Amino acid sequence: MSYLAYGDRVGLRHLVMDDAAEIVALNKESLDLHGPWLPGAPIVTREEFESYLGRFDGGAHEGFVVCRLDTGGIAGRINVNNIVRGTHQSGTVGYAAYAPSAGRGYMTEGLRLLVAYAFEELGLHRLEANIQPGNTASINLAKRAGFQREGFSPNFQFIDGAWRDHERWAVTAEMV
Ligand SMILES: CC(C)(COP(=O)(O)OP(=O)(O)OC[C@H]1O[C@@H](n2cnc3c(N)ncnc32)[C@H](O)[C@@H]1OP(=O)(O)O)[C@@H](O)C(=O)NCCC(=O)NCCS
Repeated sequence: MSYLAYGDRVGLRHLVMDDAAEIVALNKESLDLHGPWLPGAPIVTREEFESYLGRFDGGAHEGFVVCRLDTGGIAGRINVNNIVRGTHQSGTVGYAAYAPSAGRGYMTEGLRLLVAYAFEELGLHRLEANIQPGNTASINLAKRAGFQREGFSPNFQFIDGAWRDHERWAVTAEMV
């Protein structure tokens, strides 16, 4: 397997159709971990995965997976969503670890690789992450990847049955 970028323990590559079975199984194992924090219904069937992959046609969104170099298994996923070109060159990151390999440093490595890839290869200048104030794991992860807190957006996104406040974190190419 070749990757777009390599860390010590993980590689970054695009999400592809061949990932369907693994992603569906990992999503099912990660429902409790993801439930309070991620928008939308979890993808738990092959058909839902196929439909979801269509989102990455057209250049407005890019989907990546963080893979363990020792096993090749998927440790987490990172999207760059809502890419705006022109004078913004910006995107919004969304990410999730999968329960079997969460909390072992893989996402820290993966998000750092993603930030470098987005600036150096995708030509982006700013990445934003919108994070609920109580999501300490995500705030800590964003900080480790170089993001800084810019502000607070009340009732920003509908997640887990309610409109949730979010903090706005961002990193620009000058900051890394
Ligand atoms: C947010 C989320 C992606 C973080 O993923 P994670 O797998 O916990 O991330 P990491 O393993 O890289 O980092 C977690 C901890 O492991 C530690 N760690 C353990 N072993 C490590 C190692 N070998 N190397 C580096 N760090 C290691 C890190 O220091 C970090 O500690 P801390 O945050 O308690 O200070 C994960 O909690 C998740 O998927 N949450 C649900 C979805 C979600 O919230 N998404 C974001 C919405 S904004």
